[in-house]
Amino acid sequence: ALLDDGPKPLAGKKAIVTSGPTHEPIDPVRYIANRSSGRQGHAIAAALARLGADVTLVSGPVTIPDPVGVRMLHVERAEEMRDAVLAALPADVAVMVAAVADWRVASAADQKLKKHPGESIPTLALTENPDILKTVGHHTTRPKLVIGFAAETQDVEANARLKLERKGADLIVANDVSPSTGIMGGTRNSVKLIRRDGIEQWPDLSKDEVAERLAALIAEQLMQR
Ligand code: CTP
Ligand code: CA
Repeated sequence: ALLDDGPKPLAGKKAIVTSGPTHEPIDPVRYIANRSSGRQGHAIAAALARLGADVTLVSGPVTIPDPVGVRMLHVERAEEMRDAVLAALPADVAVMVAAVADWRVASAADQKLKKHPGESIPTLALTENPDILKTVGHHTTRPKLVIGFAAETQDVEANARLKLERKGADLIVANDVSPSTGIMGGTRNSVKLIRRDGIEQWPDLSKDEVAERLAALIAEQLMQR
């Protein structure tokens, strides 16, 4: 919201955005994580703030700077991210961009696991993490607009549509993250918007441009309701 005198269609509206990966501890020095730079989520939080929204950005560990003009909450684990998101409700819109680890280690070790040459190698028992988007999509204080992302490497539309239904989202921003696309870790994105009433393919854009367009669409939708 700083250094910006453009229109503020989201003034008075509250937004929650998740971004980055989560880190699930194995022991004090090791973790399981997804690949995520946080670029797309952070850009969306910044774009919503520029349109005047009161933005809470809940981010896992990333190396990019905190965006200006947002309330920043840094978390590590999926359960911490879920707790921070639920504590930030109610909101007008939630945009869940984080690459949340689907599983965590069932009981992380308090002490560093040590090698014992000649003895057995540890195996990790995993347990499922909470689905933050699904929790928000079905919450009693559900935001008017609930938006998810779907990073897919195959059957992008079908998988994204299933996620829209299962998670109670209004919109899924789907992208093909096959290694050949270069989207993972890069600055560009090529997305399809999946809604109950249809699909819209956006052109190849920078992650900042995707954020601008999505923020404008959110503003338009919140005005209508
Ligand atoms: N998501 C979430 N909490 C989780 C897993 C996913 O909030 N524990 C959100 C992501 O932030 C994203 C959407 O759900 O907005 C889809 O995430 P994705 O990993 O593509 O879907 P999953 O349901 O985890 O299915 P899968 O990984 O098997 O494709
Ligand atoms: Ca997942």
